[in-house]
Amino acid sequence: MKDLEEFARLISDTRNYFQTRLSLGETSLLLGPREEDRGGGSPAPDEQLARLEERVRSCTRCALHRSRTKVVFGTGTARTGLVFVGEAPGRDEDIQGEPFVGRAGQLLTRIIEAIQLSRDDVYITNVIKCRPEGNRDPHPHEIELCSRYLIEQLEILKPRAICALGRFAAQALSGLKLSMAGYRTEDLFYRGIRVFATYHPAACLRNASLKRPVWEDMQKLRDFLKSS
Ligand code: URA
Repeated sequence: MKDLEEFARLISDTRNYFQTRLSLGETSLLLGPREEDRGGGSPAPDEQLARLEERVRSCTRCALHRSRTKVVFGTGTARTGLVFVGEAPGRDEDIQGEPFVGRAGQLLTRIIEAIQLSRDDVYITNVIKCRPEGNRDPHPHEIELCSRYLIEQLEILKPRAICALGRFAAQALSGLKLSMAGYRTEDLFYRGIRVFATYHPAACLRNASLKRPVWEDMQKLRDFLKSS
């Protein structure tokens, strides 16, 4: 009799246990915490980036959404702790939906390889996620609206260093209005993260003499990553 009562209680407890798991939204029989619970409640960075990208893909905050072919969100990983930030997508990027895939992008790939990294080791994005028509400079209100997405990306990626490619990225990240020479020589920070500003690869394509200072900036960046 006692054995039977204990058996009945065991069945009832087991039923309650699974009903509680069901009511918490669990659908799998696997025991142990859910994927999201393992990370202290927040999804993994890749998942967070994918969710943010979903939102950006349907963005209509500014007029650039009307002329874009594809939103250019960003690619790569932050496993080395390094994020490159450019200005805005050009024609090739707008078509392919990936940052820095045109001529300037090919030069950026070589710049990254010059510090013994590959494009897959770093994260690459832009301040502006949609192409300004005719590759014009982005308007201040477009920078203001779109840089909120960049802020969210950086919060997820938590880089050790950021490389700002050109003055638009340097200004958006540092909040300072300087000459390119000024950005390169100042110690710049974005929310405590070190920012290294250098000339935009497109500027190097127009003026080959800028390649030398870019190389020097990359040495500084590489030394910082090695020592931090
Ligand atoms: N120039 C940029 O600033 N970004 C790109 O993605 C391509 C060219």
